Amino acid sequence: MSGQVRGVQLARLLGQWHALPGRRRSPDYAALAAAVRGLLADARLPLGVRLPAERELAEALRISRTTVTAAYRELRETGHLASRRGAGSWTMLPANHRVASTGLWTPVDDRDMIDLGVAALAAPPQLLDAARAATEDLPRYLGGAGYHPTGIIELREAVADGYTARGLPTSADQIMVTSGTQHALDLVLRLALPPGGSVLVESPTYPNALAALSGRRARITTHGLSVDAGGWEPDLLLGSLRQTRPKLAYLIPEFQNPTGHLMPAALREQVAAVAHAVGTDLIVDESFVDLPLGGTELPPPVAAFDRHSRVVSIGGMSKPYWGGLRIGWVRASAPQVQRLAAVRVGVDMSSPVLDQLVAVHLLADAATIVAERRVQLAAQRDALLGALAHRLPDWRVNVPRGGVTLWAELDGPVSSALARAAEEVGVRLAPGPRFGLDGTLERFLRLPFTLPAADLVEAVGRLAAVRYDLDRAGRQRWREPAVIA
Ligand SMILES: Cc1ncc(COP(=O)(O)O)c(C=O)c1O
Repeated sequence: MSGQVRGVQLARLLGQWHALPGRRRSPDYAALAAAVRGLLADARLPLGVRLPAERELAEALRISRTTVTAAYRELRETGHLASRRGAGSWTMLPANHRVASTGLWTPVDDRDMIDLGVAALAAPPQLLDAARAATEDLPRYLGGAGYHPTGIIELREAVADGYTARGLPTSADQIMVTSGTQHALDLVLRLALPPGGSVLVESPTYPNALAALSGRRARITTHGLSVDAGGWEPDLLLGSLRQTRPKLAYLIPEFQNPTGHLMPAALREQVAAVAHAVGTDLIVDESFVDLPLGGTELPPPVAAFDRHSRVVSIGGMSKPYWGGLRIGWVRASAPQVQRLAAVRVGVDMSSPVLDQLVAVHLLADAATIVAERRVQLAAQRDALLGALAHRLPDWRVNVPRGGVTLWAELDGPVSSALARAAEEVGVRLAPGPRFGLDGTLERFLRLPFTLPAADLVEAVGRLAAVRYDLDRAGRQRWREPAVIA
Protein backbone atom coordinates (compact mmCIF):
# COMPACT_ATOMS: atom_id res chain seq x y z
CA MET A 1 0.00 0.00 0.00
CA SER A 2 1.53 3.33 -0.99
CA GLY A 3 0.93 6.86 0.32
CA GLN A 4 -2.81 6.75 -0.17
CA VAL A 5 -5.47 4.15 0.54
CA ARG A 6 -8.55 4.12 -1.66
CA GLY A 7 -12.07 3.77 -0.34
CA VAL A 8 -12.55 0.26 -1.72
CA GLN A 9 -9.19 -0.86 -0.31
CA LEU A 10 -10.03 0.43 3.14
CA ALA A 11 -13.49 -1.12 2.96
CA ARG A 12 -11.87 -4.49 2.15
CA LEU A 13 -9.43 -4.15 5.05
CA LEU A 14 -12.21 -3.13 7.41
CA GLY A 15 -14.16 -6.28 6.54
CA GLN A 16 -16.82 -6.80 9.18
CA TRP A 17 -16.02 -3.59 11.01
CA HIS A 18 -19.49 -3.48 12.51
CA ALA A 19 -18.83 -6.78 14.35
CA LEU A 20 -17.13 -5.28 17.36
CA PRO A 21 -17.18 -6.36 20.98
CA GLY A 22 -19.84 -4.40 22.80
CA ARG A 23 -21.19 -3.35 19.42
CA ARG A 24 -24.79 -3.03 20.50
CA ARG A 25 -23.81 -0.38 22.97
CA SER A 26 -21.81 1.84 20.59
CA PRO A 27 -22.95 3.96 17.64
CA ASP A 28 -21.78 3.26 14.08
CA TYR A 29 -19.19 6.05 13.97
CA ALA A 30 -17.49 4.74 17.14
CA ALA A 31 -17.43 1.20 15.76
CA LEU A 32 -15.87 2.46 12.53
CA ALA A 33 -13.26 4.50 14.38
CA ALA A 34 -12.42 1.49 16.58
CA ALA A 35 -12.03 -0.75 13.53
CA VAL A 36 -9.65 1.75 11.88
CA ARG A 37 -7.67 1.91 15.13
CA GLY A 38 -7.47 -1.89 15.10
CA LEU A 39 -6.04 -1.88 11.57
CA LEU A 40 -3.50 0.75 12.61
CA ALA A 41 -2.54 -1.09 15.76
CA ASP A 42 -1.70 -4.28 13.92
CA ALA A 43 0.04 -2.48 11.07
CA ARG A 44 -2.32 -3.52 8.31
CA LEU A 45 -2.83 0.18 7.78
CA PRO A 46 0.59 1.84 7.81
CA LEU A 47 1.59 5.13 9.41
CA GLY A 48 1.49 8.24 7.27
CA VAL A 49 -0.97 7.05 4.60
CA ARG A 50 -3.74 9.29 3.39
CA LEU A 51 -7.20 7.96 4.13
CA PRO A 52 -9.94 8.25 1.50
CA ALA A 53 -12.08 11.38 1.44
CA GLU A 54 -15.15 11.06 3.63
CA ARG A 55 -17.56 10.79 0.72
CA GLU A 56 -15.46 8.12 -1.00
CA LEU A 57 -15.31 5.95 2.13
CA ALA A 58 -19.02 6.46 2.81
CA GLU A 59 -19.79 5.19 -0.70
CA ALA A 60 -17.43 2.23 -0.39
CA LEU A 61 -18.96 1.20 2.95
CA ARG A 62 -22.52 2.12 1.90
CA ILE A 63 -23.06 4.24 4.99
CA SER A 64 -23.87 7.89 5.49
CA ARG A 65 -21.20 10.53 5.13
CA THR A 66 -22.01 11.94 8.57
CA THR A 67 -20.98 8.59 10.10
CA VAL A 68 -17.59 8.78 8.39
CA THR A 69 -17.20 12.45 9.37
CA ALA A 70 -17.86 11.58 12.99
CA ALA A 71 -15.50 8.58 12.88
CA TYR A 72 -12.68 10.71 11.40
CA ARG A 73 -13.34 13.35 14.07
CA GLU A 74 -13.00 10.73 16.79
CA LEU A 75 -9.77 9.42 15.23
CA ARG A 76 -8.38 12.95 15.24
CA GLU A 77 -9.31 13.35 18.88
CA THR A 78 -7.60 10.09 19.87
CA GLY A 79 -4.46 11.08 17.96
CA HIS A 80 -4.77 8.52 15.15
CA LEU A 81 -5.41 10.97 12.34
CA ALA A 82 -4.03 14.35 11.31
CA SER A 83 -6.08 16.43 8.89
CA ARG A 84 -5.36 19.54 6.90
CA ARG A 85 -8.29 21.40 5.40
CA GLY A 86 -8.46 20.81 1.68
CA ALA A 87 -5.50 18.41 1.70
CA GLY A 88 -6.80 15.27 3.43
CA SER A 89 -6.25 13.10 6.51
CA TRP A 90 -3.18 11.03 7.34
CA THR A 91 -2.79 8.16 9.78
CA MET A 92 -0.47 8.80 12.71
CA LEU A 93 0.82 7.26 15.92
CA PRO A 94 -0.97 8.62 18.99
CA ALA A 95 1.03 10.00 21.91
CA ASN A 96 2.27 7.35 24.37
CA HIS A 97 2.52 4.67 21.69
CA ARG A 98 5.51 3.10 20.00
CA VAL A 99 6.01 0.68 17.12
CA ALA A 100 7.02 -2.71 18.58
CA SER A 101 9.35 -5.24 16.93
CA THR A 102 6.39 -7.00 15.37
CA GLY A 103 5.31 -3.84 13.62
CA LEU A 104 2.32 -3.70 15.97
CA TRP A 105 1.52 -0.50 17.83
CA THR A 106 1.94 -0.67 21.55
CA PRO A 107 1.15 1.70 24.39
CA VAL A 108 4.44 2.75 25.97
CA ASP A 109 3.39 1.45 29.42
CA ASP A 110 2.26 -2.06 28.49
CA ARG A 111 4.46 -4.02 30.87
CA ASP A 112 1.61 -6.14 32.24
CA MET A 113 0.52 -7.25 28.80
CA ILE A 114 0.86 -10.96 27.94
CA ASP A 115 2.35 -10.48 24.50
CA LEU A 116 1.35 -13.23 22.08
CA GLY A 117 2.17 -10.95 19.16
CA VAL A 118 5.84 -11.94 19.25
CA ALA A 119 7.02 -15.45 18.42
CA ALA A 120 10.46 -15.43 20.02
CA LEU A 121 12.04 -16.70 23.24
CA ALA A 122 13.87 -14.76 25.93
CA ALA A 123 17.67 -15.18 25.84
CA PRO A 124 19.18 -18.48 27.01
CA PRO A 125 21.22 -18.43 30.26
CA GLN A 126 24.39 -19.22 28.30
CA LEU A 127 24.28 -15.86 26.53
CA LEU A 128 26.11 -13.91 29.22
CA ASP A 129 29.06 -16.30 29.28
CA ALA A 130 29.21 -16.19 25.48
CA ALA A 131 29.27 -12.38 25.61
CA ARG A 132 32.09 -12.40 28.18
CA ALA A 133 34.14 -14.85 26.14
CA ALA A 134 33.56 -12.72 23.03
CA THR A 135 35.05 -9.63 24.65
CA GLU A 136 38.20 -11.67 25.34
CA ASP A 137 38.42 -12.56 21.64
CA LEU A 138 37.83 -9.03 20.49
CA PRO A 139 41.48 -7.82 20.68
CA ARG A 140 42.27 -10.14 17.74
CA TYR A 141 40.11 -7.90 15.56
CA LEU A 142 40.94 -4.48 16.93
CA GLY A 143 44.02 -4.02 14.73
CA GLY A 144 41.84 -3.89 11.60
CA ALA A 145 39.09 -1.50 10.51
CA GLY A 146 36.39 -3.98 11.55
CA TYR A 147 34.43 -4.04 8.26
CA HIS A 148 33.74 -7.59 7.08
CA PRO A 149 30.92 -7.37 4.51
CA THR A 150 30.51 -11.15 4.33
CA GLY A 151 31.12 -11.64 8.06
CA ILE A 152 34.08 -12.68 10.21
CA ILE A 153 35.63 -15.89 9.01
CA GLU A 154 35.14 -17.87 12.23
CA LEU A 155 31.40 -17.31 12.19
CA ARG A 156 31.13 -18.10 8.49
CA GLU A 157 32.99 -21.34 9.13
CA ALA A 158 30.76 -22.25 12.07
CA VAL A 159 27.60 -21.61 10.02
CA ALA A 160 28.97 -23.54 7.04
CA ASP A 161 29.78 -26.47 9.35
CA GLY A 162 26.16 -26.43 10.52
CA TYR A 163 24.94 -26.93 6.93
CA THR A 164 27.53 -29.64 6.30
CA ALA A 165 26.34 -31.45 9.43
CA ARG A 166 22.78 -31.34 8.00
CA GLY A 167 24.02 -33.18 4.92
CA LEU A 168 24.61 -30.15 2.71
CA PRO A 169 28.36 -29.71 2.18
CA THR A 170 29.05 -25.98 2.48
CA SER A 171 32.20 -23.87 2.58
CA ALA A 172 32.70 -20.56 4.36
CA ASP A 173 32.75 -18.66 1.05
CA GLN A 174 29.12 -19.71 0.52
CA ILE A 175 28.02 -17.92 3.69
CA MET A 176 27.36 -14.24 4.26
CA VAL A 177 26.62 -13.10 7.80
CA THR A 178 23.80 -10.56 8.09
CA SER A 179 22.13 -8.58 10.87
CA GLY A 180 19.29 -11.07 11.28
CA THR A 181 17.23 -13.17 8.89
CA GLN A 182 15.02 -10.25 7.95
CA HIS A 183 18.09 -8.36 6.78
CA ALA A 184 19.17 -11.42 4.82
CA LEU A 185 15.78 -11.47 3.07
CA ASP A 186 15.97 -7.78 2.26
CA LEU A 187 19.44 -8.11 0.76
CA VAL A 188 18.49 -11.13 -1.33
CA LEU A 189 15.43 -9.27 -2.64
CA ARG A 190 17.56 -6.26 -3.53
CA LEU A 191 19.80 -8.52 -5.59
CA ALA A 192 17.29 -10.94 -7.09
CA LEU A 193 14.02 -9.06 -7.54
CA PRO A 194 13.62 -6.46 -10.27
CA PRO A 195 11.07 -3.69 -9.53
CA GLY A 196 7.57 -5.10 -9.91
CA GLY A 197 8.92 -8.65 -10.10
CA SER A 198 6.55 -11.49 -9.20
CA VAL A 199 6.91 -13.54 -6.02
CA LEU A 200 4.99 -16.59 -4.86
CA VAL A 201 4.52 -16.89 -1.09
CA GLU A 202 2.66 -19.23 1.19
CA SER A 203 -0.61 -18.03 2.71
CA PRO A 204 -0.50 -17.59 5.62
CA THR A 205 3.10 -16.44 5.81
CA TYR A 206 5.46 -14.37 7.93
CA PRO A 207 4.12 -10.76 7.94
CA ASN A 208 7.51 -9.07 7.90
CA ALA A 209 8.40 -11.04 4.77
CA LEU A 210 5.26 -9.58 3.17
CA ALA A 211 6.40 -6.15 4.37
CA ALA A 212 9.85 -6.67 2.79
CA LEU A 213 8.23 -7.76 -0.47
CA SER A 214 5.87 -4.79 -0.51
CA GLY A 215 8.83 -2.54 0.19
CA ARG A 216 10.43 -3.83 -3.02
CA ARG A 217 7.16 -3.40 -4.93
CA ALA A 218 6.82 -7.13 -5.56
CA ARG A 219 3.75 -8.52 -7.30
CA ILE A 220 2.71 -11.14 -4.78
CA THR A 221 0.76 -14.32 -5.50
CA THR A 222 -0.11 -16.85 -2.82
CA HIS A 223 -0.27 -20.57 -2.26
CA GLY A 224 -2.81 -21.46 0.43
CA LEU A 225 -1.75 -23.79 3.23
CA SER A 226 -4.27 -25.91 5.08
CA VAL A 227 -4.49 -26.06 8.87
CA ASP A 228 -4.28 -29.83 8.77
CA ALA A 229 -1.12 -31.83 9.05
CA GLY A 230 -0.09 -31.77 5.37
CA GLY A 231 0.02 -28.02 4.95
CA TRP A 232 1.22 -27.65 1.37
CA GLU A 233 -0.96 -29.17 -1.33
CA PRO A 234 1.75 -30.51 -3.69
CA ASP A 235 -0.25 -30.39 -6.92
CA LEU A 236 -1.45 -26.87 -6.24
CA LEU A 237 1.98 -25.58 -5.25
CA LEU A 238 3.72 -27.11 -8.25
CA GLY A 239 0.82 -26.01 -10.47
CA SER A 240 1.11 -22.41 -9.23
CA LEU A 241 4.81 -22.42 -9.98
CA ARG A 242 4.21 -23.77 -13.49
CA GLN A 243 1.37 -21.37 -14.26
CA THR A 244 2.63 -18.13 -12.77
CA ARG A 245 6.37 -18.77 -13.36
CA PRO A 246 7.26 -16.21 -10.69
CA LYS A 247 10.68 -14.61 -10.56
CA LEU A 248 11.00 -15.77 -6.94
CA ALA A 249 9.24 -18.01 -4.46
CA TYR A 250 9.63 -17.44 -0.72
CA LEU A 251 9.06 -20.57 1.36
CA ILE A 252 9.41 -21.51 5.04
CA PRO A 253 9.68 -25.31 4.84
CA GLU A 254 10.66 -26.03 8.43
CA PHE A 255 7.91 -25.40 11.00
CA GLN A 256 6.43 -22.69 8.88
CA ASN A 257 5.54 -19.41 10.56
CA PRO A 258 2.64 -19.33 11.40
CA THR A 259 1.28 -22.85 10.70
CA GLY A 260 4.16 -24.89 12.13
CA HIS A 261 4.11 -27.24 9.10
CA LEU A 262 7.15 -29.23 7.97
CA MET A 263 7.54 -29.76 4.23
CA PRO A 264 8.20 -33.41 3.34
CA ALA A 265 11.35 -34.44 1.46
CA ALA A 266 9.51 -35.49 -1.71
CA LEU A 267 7.90 -32.08 -2.11
CA ARG A 268 11.21 -30.33 -1.48
CA GLU A 269 12.72 -32.27 -4.34
CA GLN A 270 9.78 -31.53 -6.64
CA VAL A 271 9.74 -27.82 -5.80
CA ALA A 272 13.46 -27.51 -6.55
CA ALA A 273 13.02 -29.34 -9.89
CA VAL A 274 9.94 -27.38 -11.02
CA ALA A 275 11.47 -24.07 -9.92
CA HIS A 276 14.45 -24.75 -12.13
CA ALA A 277 12.26 -25.83 -15.05
CA VAL A 278 10.21 -22.60 -14.97
CA GLY A 279 13.08 -20.23 -14.15
CA THR A 280 12.06 -19.41 -10.57
CA ASP A 281 14.64 -18.76 -7.85
CA LEU A 282 13.75 -20.03 -4.38
CA ILE A 283 14.34 -18.13 -1.16
CA VAL A 284 14.17 -20.72 1.59
CA ASP A 285 13.76 -19.28 5.08
CA GLU A 286 15.14 -21.74 7.61
CA SER A 287 14.49 -19.67 10.72
CA PHE A 288 13.09 -22.63 12.68
CA VAL A 289 15.20 -25.50 11.37
CA ASP A 290 16.93 -26.05 14.73
CA LEU A 291 13.67 -26.55 16.55
CA PRO A 292 12.12 -29.95 15.78
CA LEU A 293 10.21 -31.09 18.88
CA GLY A 294 9.68 -34.52 20.38
CA GLY A 295 12.06 -36.47 18.14
CA THR A 296 10.71 -35.16 14.80
CA GLU A 297 13.07 -36.17 11.96
CA LEU A 298 14.14 -33.37 9.63
CA PRO A 299 14.08 -33.94 5.86
CA PRO A 300 17.18 -32.79 3.91
CA PRO A 301 17.45 -29.02 3.33
CA VAL A 302 15.72 -27.81 0.14
CA ALA A 303 19.13 -26.70 -1.14
CA ALA A 304 20.27 -30.35 -1.04
CA PHE A 305 18.00 -30.94 -4.08
CA ASP A 306 19.32 -27.93 -5.96
CA ARG A 307 21.66 -28.66 -8.86
CA HIS A 308 21.51 -25.24 -10.51
CA SER A 309 22.11 -22.59 -7.83
CA ARG A 310 18.39 -21.79 -7.80
CA VAL A 311 18.10 -21.94 -4.02
CA VAL A 312 19.23 -19.23 -1.66
CA SER A 313 18.83 -20.28 1.98
CA ILE A 314 18.46 -17.74 4.77
CA GLY A 315 18.49 -18.35 8.50
CA GLY A 316 19.78 -17.05 11.78
CA MET A 317 20.17 -17.14 15.53
CA SER A 318 16.93 -15.38 16.54
CA LYS A 319 14.70 -18.39 17.15
CA PRO A 320 16.99 -20.97 18.73
CA TYR A 321 19.18 -18.40 20.55
CA TRP A 322 18.09 -14.75 20.85
CA GLY A 323 16.52 -12.16 18.56
CA GLY A 324 18.46 -9.40 20.29
CA LEU A 325 21.71 -10.74 18.86
CA ARG A 326 20.69 -9.71 15.33
CA ILE A 327 22.73 -12.42 13.68
CA GLY A 328 21.50 -14.10 10.50
CA TRP A 329 23.01 -15.39 7.30
CA VAL A 330 22.61 -16.27 3.66
CA ARG A 331 23.81 -19.54 2.13
CA ALA A 332 24.25 -19.28 -1.63
CA SER A 333 26.90 -19.99 -4.27
CA ALA A 334 30.23 -18.25 -3.65
CA PRO A 335 29.73 -15.79 -6.57
CA GLN A 336 26.22 -14.95 -5.31
CA VAL A 337 27.67 -14.24 -1.88
CA GLN A 338 30.14 -11.82 -3.44
CA ARG A 339 27.35 -10.05 -5.33
CA LEU A 340 25.31 -9.84 -2.12
CA ALA A 341 28.31 -8.37 -0.29
CA ALA A 342 28.58 -5.69 -2.96
CA VAL A 343 24.89 -4.81 -2.44
CA ARG A 344 25.29 -4.88 1.31
CA VAL A 345 28.08 -2.32 1.34
CA GLY A 346 25.53 0.20 0.04
CA VAL A 347 23.15 -0.68 2.88
CA ASP A 348 24.99 -1.20 6.18
CA MET A 349 28.60 -2.16 5.33
CA SER A 350 28.80 -5.15 7.69
CA SER A 351 27.58 -6.66 10.95
CA PRO A 352 29.08 -5.78 14.36
CA VAL A 353 32.22 -7.83 15.09
CA LEU A 354 31.49 -8.26 18.80
CA ASP A 355 28.02 -9.70 18.16
CA GLN A 356 29.46 -12.10 15.63
CA LEU A 357 31.97 -13.30 18.22
CA VAL A 358 29.12 -13.88 20.68
CA ALA A 359 27.42 -15.93 17.98
CA VAL A 360 30.58 -18.03 17.48
CA HIS A 361 30.60 -18.92 21.18
CA LEU A 362 26.90 -19.76 21.23
CA LEU A 363 27.27 -22.00 18.18
CA ALA A 364 30.16 -23.79 19.86
CA ASP A 365 27.68 -24.69 22.63
CA ALA A 366 24.81 -25.39 20.21
CA ALA A 367 24.17 -28.99 21.24
CA THR A 368 23.42 -28.04 24.85
CA ILE A 369 21.61 -24.76 24.24
CA VAL A 370 19.35 -26.00 21.46
CA ALA A 371 18.50 -29.22 23.30
CA GLU A 372 17.33 -27.15 26.27
CA ARG A 373 15.28 -24.87 24.01
CA ARG A 374 13.51 -27.84 22.49
CA VAL A 375 12.56 -29.28 25.85
CA GLN A 376 11.28 -25.87 26.96
CA LEU A 377 9.30 -25.33 23.75
CA ALA A 378 7.74 -28.81 23.79
CA ALA A 379 6.51 -28.26 27.35
CA GLN A 380 5.12 -24.81 26.51
CA ARG A 381 3.45 -26.09 23.32
CA ASP A 382 1.75 -28.86 25.29
CA ALA A 383 0.58 -26.42 27.96
CA LEU A 384 -0.92 -24.19 25.28
CA LEU A 385 -2.61 -27.10 23.51
CA GLY A 386 -3.98 -28.36 26.81
CA ALA A 387 -5.40 -24.95 27.73
CA LEU A 388 -6.98 -24.56 24.28
CA ALA A 389 -8.57 -28.01 24.42
CA HIS A 390 -9.96 -27.21 27.85
CA ARG A 391 -11.12 -23.59 27.40
CA LEU A 392 -11.71 -23.18 23.66
CA PRO A 393 -12.63 -26.68 22.45
CA ASP A 394 -14.33 -25.36 19.29
CA TRP A 395 -11.05 -24.05 17.90
CA ARG A 396 -9.32 -26.42 15.53
CA VAL A 397 -5.55 -26.74 15.91
CA ASN A 398 -2.90 -28.91 14.39
CA VAL A 399 -0.12 -30.07 16.75
CA PRO A 400 3.07 -28.51 15.36
CA ARG A 401 6.02 -30.91 15.36
CA GLY A 402 8.49 -28.07 15.80
CA GLY A 403 9.04 -24.34 15.69
CA VAL A 404 7.39 -21.86 18.01
CA THR A 405 3.85 -21.24 16.71
CA LEU A 406 0.53 -22.90 16.13
CA TRP A 407 -2.22 -21.76 13.82
CA ALA A 408 -5.72 -22.06 15.18
CA GLU A 409 -8.89 -22.14 13.11
CA LEU A 410 -11.45 -20.21 15.14
CA ASP A 411 -15.15 -20.84 15.44
CA GLY A 412 -15.96 -17.78 13.34
CA PRO A 413 -14.31 -14.98 11.32
CA VAL A 414 -13.54 -12.97 14.45
CA SER A 415 -9.75 -12.77 14.61
CA SER A 416 -9.45 -8.96 14.42
CA ALA A 417 -12.39 -8.38 16.75
CA LEU A 418 -10.90 -10.88 19.18
CA ALA A 419 -7.51 -9.13 19.04
CA ARG A 420 -9.11 -5.78 19.84
CA ALA A 421 -11.10 -7.25 22.70
CA ALA A 422 -8.08 -9.20 24.02
CA GLU A 423 -6.04 -6.02 24.22
CA GLU A 424 -8.58 -4.74 26.75
CA VAL A 425 -7.90 -7.71 29.03
CA GLY A 426 -4.13 -7.57 28.74
CA VAL A 427 -3.40 -10.06 25.96
CA ARG A 428 -1.76 -8.92 22.74
CA LEU A 429 -2.52 -10.97 19.62
CA ALA A 430 -1.43 -10.83 16.02
CA PRO A 431 -4.74 -11.54 14.23
CA GLY A 432 -4.95 -13.89 11.24
CA PRO A 433 -5.18 -11.21 8.52
CA ARG A 434 -1.66 -10.04 9.43
CA PHE A 435 -0.41 -13.25 7.85
CA GLY A 436 -2.09 -12.85 4.49
CA LEU A 437 -3.03 -10.30 1.86
CA ASP A 438 -6.10 -8.08 1.66
CA GLY A 439 -7.82 -8.77 4.94
CA THR A 440 -8.44 -12.49 4.47
CA LEU A 441 -7.73 -15.14 7.18
CA GLU A 442 -10.19 -13.63 9.68
CA ARG A 443 -11.05 -17.15 10.77
CA PHE A 444 -7.48 -17.85 11.97
CA LEU A 445 -5.17 -16.84 14.78
CA ARG A 446 -1.46 -17.47 15.33
CA LEU A 447 -0.53 -18.48 18.85
CA PRO A 448 3.17 -18.64 19.72
CA PHE A 449 4.35 -20.85 22.58
CA THR A 450 7.43 -18.84 23.44
CA LEU A 451 6.19 -17.51 26.80
CA PRO A 452 6.28 -19.51 30.06
CA ALA A 453 3.51 -22.12 30.38
CA ALA A 454 1.73 -20.24 33.18
CA ASP A 455 1.41 -17.12 31.00
CA LEU A 456 0.08 -19.16 28.10
CA VAL A 457 -2.57 -20.81 30.26
CA GLU A 458 -3.56 -17.45 31.75
CA ALA A 459 -3.76 -15.88 28.28
CA VAL A 460 -6.01 -18.67 26.96
CA GLY A 461 -8.31 -18.23 29.97
CA ARG A 462 -8.65 -14.52 29.18
CA LEU A 463 -9.22 -15.24 25.48
CA ALA A 464 -11.94 -17.73 26.30
CA ALA A 465 -13.75 -15.10 28.39
CA VAL A 466 -13.41 -12.50 25.65
CA ARG A 467 -14.58 -14.94 23.00
CA TYR A 468 -17.71 -15.56 25.00
CA ASP A 469 -18.34 -11.80 25.27
CA LEU A 470 -17.92 -11.38 21.51
CA ASP A 471 -20.66 -13.92 20.96
CA ARG A 472 -23.02 -12.09 23.24
CA ALA A 473 -22.24 -8.76 21.56
CA GLY A 474 -23.20 -9.60 18.01
CA ARG A 475 -23.61 -13.23 17.20
CA GLN A 476 -25.66 -12.70 14.04
CA ARG A 477 -23.01 -10.63 12.32
CA TRP A 478 -20.20 -13.12 12.76
CA ARG A 479 -22.15 -15.92 11.22
CA GLU A 480 -22.00 -14.07 7.89
CA PRO A 481 -19.59 -15.75 5.49
CA ALA A 482 -16.18 -14.10 5.14
CA VAL A 483 -13.56 -14.52 2.44
CA ILE A 484 -10.90 -16.96 3.60
CA ALA A 485 -7.75 -17.43 1.50
C1 LIG B 1 10.04 -16.93 9.06
C2 LIG B 1 10.81 -15.83 9.70
N1 LIG B 1 11.78 -15.22 9.01
C3 LIG B 1 12.49 -14.21 9.53
C4 LIG B 1 12.26 -13.79 10.82
C5 LIG B 1 13.07 -12.63 11.35
O1 LIG B 1 14.18 -13.13 12.00
P1 LIG B 1 15.37 -12.21 12.52
O2 LIG B 1 15.03 -11.81 13.90
O3 LIG B 1 16.55 -13.13 12.46
O4 LIG B 1 15.52 -11.07 11.59
C6 LIG B 1 11.28 -14.41 11.60
C7 LIG B 1 10.99 -13.94 12.96
O5 LIG B 1 9.93 -14.19 13.49
C8 LIG B 1 10.53 -15.45 11.01
O6 LIG B 1 9.57 -16.06 11.70
